Amino acid sequence: MSTYPRSNQSGNETRKPVILMVDDDPNNLSVVRDSLMECEYTLLAAEDGESAVERAVYAQPDLILLDIMMPGIDGFETCHRLKLQETTKDIPVIFMTALAETEHKVKGLAGGAVDYITKPFQREELLARIAIHLHIRELTNRLQEANETLELRVAERTADLAVANRELEEEIAGRQKAQEALEALNNSLEERIATSVAELRQKDDLLMHQNRLAAMGELLTSIAHQWRQPLNNIAAYIQAMQFLHKSGELTAEEMDKDISEVMDILKYMSQTIDDFRKFYRKDQELREFDVRSVAERCIGLTGPALKSGNIQVTVQGDRDIRATGYPNEYAQCLVNILYNAMDILLERSVSAPLIELHIQRQENHSVLSVKDNGGGIAPEIIPHIFDPYFTTKGPASGTGIGLYMARTLIERNMGGKLTVQNTDVGAEFRIEL
Ligand SMILES: Nc1ncnc2c1ncn2[C@@H]1O[C@H](COP(=O)(O)OP(=O)(O)OP(=O)(O)O)[C@@H](O)[C@H]1O
Ligand SMILES: [Mg+2]
Repeated sequence: MSTYPRSNQSGNETRKPVILMVDDDPNNLSVVRDSLMECEYTLLAAEDGESAVERAVYAQPDLILLDIMMPGIDGFETCHRLKLQETTKDIPVIFMTALAETEHKVKGLAGGAVDYITKPFQREELLARIAIHLHIRELTNRLQEANETLELRVAERTADLAVANRELEEEIAGRQKAQEALEALNNSLEERIATSVAELRQKDDLLMHQNRLAAMGELLTSIAHQWRQPLNNIAAYIQAMQFLHKSGELTAEEMDKDISEVMDILKYMSQTIDDFRKFYRKDQELREFDVRSVAERCIGLTGPALKSGNIQVTVQGDRDIRATGYPNEYAQCLVNILYNAMDILLERSVSAPLIELHIQRQENHSVLSVKDNGGGIAPEIIPHIFDPYFTTKGPASGTGIGLYMARTLIERNMGGKLTVQNTDVGAEFRIEL
């Protein structure tokens, strides 16, 4: 308890504890002054209650020793007034009085005093009680200070948090807006992509149709050529029959033979028409087909044109190699590849022009390779030959759509693969399906 004096409330300079003694009897005052002499206290005095309250307001003592029986307002009333004022209400008050009855003590303590000392007092007891209450007072002050700092910091932190919170909310709102804008953009982008894809498909379909019509034009020329010979033959048979009939030499046997020959020729002609019709018809759904039959049908259709260029065509490979796709579109691709080979062989006037078809099975798919001996494709244009409108033939004879369509049909429509490479003597196209 002798640790007093300590730092004052602000904590940076020390002052001696100030004790205000209130008593109307000068003897009592000097007894207490003597008792406190050796202590580091500043002792102030007031002779009555009213001046005690006034002094307490401006001197702000650390402790008040208060007599009860005084002229004017008594100690209880003085204490009551001190406790009513904001500036003095926390100053600890110890009653010092000759009134020793319990009811006085209770009344004093109930009025806000922290302690009660009866006169005559023991010096040590007085010093001990003063020291305790000063210590408690200091601890209370420090606690209050700490509390205030804490409150301040909590307030600051709360303010900081409120700002951070507001910023966060703004950011969230910003992000939400950006997200919504992105979603809207995404949606419109998806729509635009879908429209573009649909438009592209439409264009592709149109191109495909044009390519088919072009191929059909060539095939019709080819058929016309193909039919010239059988038509001549039929005419010859009919003329021969007419001649024999006129000369009376037409036997029933001879007629049956000639008619059967004509029927065979007609069957062959009708077969070419069937093939042509099949080629013209667009496949509606994926189905399994025999690769070799389709290849032979294409050669049948392009045969006359190839033959007129003296181009030899061979087919090797098994018969029962099957693939799943659209056989007529597959045929369209093959016809494009065959005409390309034919064009090159004629353009470059290759001697002993040859186109070799080879059909084989590799793992779980079919491979049809078409090799020619036309000298191959210049390496620098290989990466472009499947591009739409890429041609080396000039506008009169090529549109540059043939291989683009072929790849689109095989890869996009049937999930297969169309590739090209040069061999020692020419180009080799491979259709894998
Ligand atoms: N067998 C081949 N040998 C050498 N070059 C070829 C061969 N096949 C194609 N090419 C080259 O590829 C180009 C593109 O062929 P594609 O079939 O796409 O168009 P095109 O034949 O020029 O015109 P289209 O077929 O539309 O009438 C050709 O112009 C040609 O230069
Ligand atoms: Mg072509």
